[in-house]
Amino acid sequence: MSKYQAGTYTGEAPKVWPAKVNQIPKEIFGDAALFEEELKKIFYGDTWHVVGHTAEVPNIGDFKTFDLGRVPLLIARGKDNQVRVFFNSCTHRGNQLETSVSGNRKEFECPYHRWLFSLDGALAACPGSKEFAPDFKQENFGLVELKTDQYLGLILVTMGKNTPPLKEWLGDIVPLTLSALLGGDGRLKLLGYQKVRYVSNWKGYNDNDGYHGGLLHTAFRMLNFQGGSGSQPMSVNGHWVIEAELKPAQNSGFLNDPSLIDFKVADPKRGSLVVQLYPMTVMVKHMDVINLRFAIARSHDVTEVHYAYFAHEDDSEELVQHRIRQSSNLLGPCGMVSMEDAAVFQRIHIGNHTPGVAEFQKGVVSLSELSLDMKQSDETGNLPRWEHYRKVMGFKREGEQ
Ligand code: FES
Ligand SMILES: [Fe+2]
Repeated sequence: MSKYQAGTYTGEAPKVWPAKVNQIPKEIFGDAALFEEELKKIFYGDTWHVVGHTAEVPNIGDFKTFDLGRVPLLIARGKDNQVRVFFNSCTHRGNQLETSVSGNRKEFECPYHRWLFSLDGALAACPGSKEFAPDFKQENFGLVELKTDQYLGLILVTMGKNTPPLKEWLGDIVPLTLSALLGGDGRLKLLGYQKVRYVSNWKGYNDNDGYHGGLLHTAFRMLNFQGGSGSQPMSVNGHWVIEAELKPAQNSGFLNDPSLIDFKVADPKRGSLVVQLYPMTVMVKHMDVINLRFAIARSHDVTEVHYAYFAHEDDSEELVQHRIRQSSNLLGPCGMVSMEDAAVFQRIHIGNHTPGVAEFQKGVVSLSELSLDMKQSDETGNLPRWEHYRKVMGFKREGEQ
C-alpha cells in the first residue's frame, strides 16, 4: 500500500512527466487549462483530423456539420461532385451558417442579412451591396475552405501550417488495416448513427486497450470470441492498429438466434480490425459491422462521439439487413459486446481526479523503452500514442534536459 503525501495534489497537469514509459499522470484528465493548450497544439495544430466520410454526403447539395474542437465546420458536396470543408461561419459578421446536423441545400443562406453562398462556397448574392465599403469585392467573400485530403472516402482536415502530407502522416502500417476496414475501396453506404456524449476527457475515451476485451465485456466472453491470434503492429504519429482473429460463431446457448453473429463477408482470421487515427478517430470492423466513430473533444470533461455505421455500396439487400442487425446489436454505445465501455469512460474520468499516475502493465517489458512487439491483448499498444501526446504537448520526462 502506498500512502498519499498530503499537499502534493494540485489537480493541474504536472510540468514533468514520469520517467517510466508505462505511467501517465492522472492530472492531465481533469485540467481545463490543459485542454486549452491541447486545442492549440493538437486540434488546431499540425495534425490531420477525420471529420467524416464521403458516404455521409452522397448527393450534390448534401451537407453535414461537425466541430473540430470549438471550430464549427460545414462539409458539403458541390455541383461538381467535390466534397469541401468550410468554416461554418458566414464571411460577413461570422454568424454560424448551418445549424442542422445534416441535410440537403441548393445553396447556403445566412439568416442574419441573407448573404447567399453557392455549394462551392462562392458568395452568390448579398443584399444592399451598393452601399458596402469601397474596397468590398464579392469574390473575396466566399466561405473559407480548410485544407483537406481524402483516404478511401475518409475526409480529413488540418488547420496547421506544417502538417505533413496525409500519406506520410498515415505511415506504412495504418493503410494495410484501414483499407480492409473500409471494405477494400472505401465505397461505403451510410446506414445510420448513434450519437453519444460521454462524461469523459477525450484522452480517456480513446485510451481503450487490447487487454480489457474479454475481461470487461461479458458478452465478448459468452460469445467465445477470445483465444484467436492477432497483432498490434507499431505505428507512427500516435496511430494505433489491432487485428484480431475471432472464432466463428459457436452456439453457446447465449443467443436464441446465433445467426446474429454469422460472418457473411468478414474473414474470421481478420474478424476484428481496429484503427485509431490520432487524436480522436476510432474505426472498427467487427465481424460484418463497419463502424467509424467521429469524435469531438467538447471540453476537458465532455467527449461527443458520432458512431456512424456503414454497408458497402455493392452489398445485396440481404447483406445490408444483416449489417444493420449486427451494427445495432453488437457494437456501439449500447451494443451487446461493447456497452460496458461507456461506464468505464466515465469511471476512468471520475477515478482520475485523484493524485498520482495511471499504470499500464499488460505487455510491458521495459520501463525505459516502448515495446515494439505487442500482442493484440496487450495494453502496450496505447503507449506509443501517449509518447506522441507527451512530445506534441512538450512535457519533459523526469530527468530529461
Ligand atoms: S452575418 Fe451572415 S449575412 Fe450578415
Ligand atoms: Fe471495450
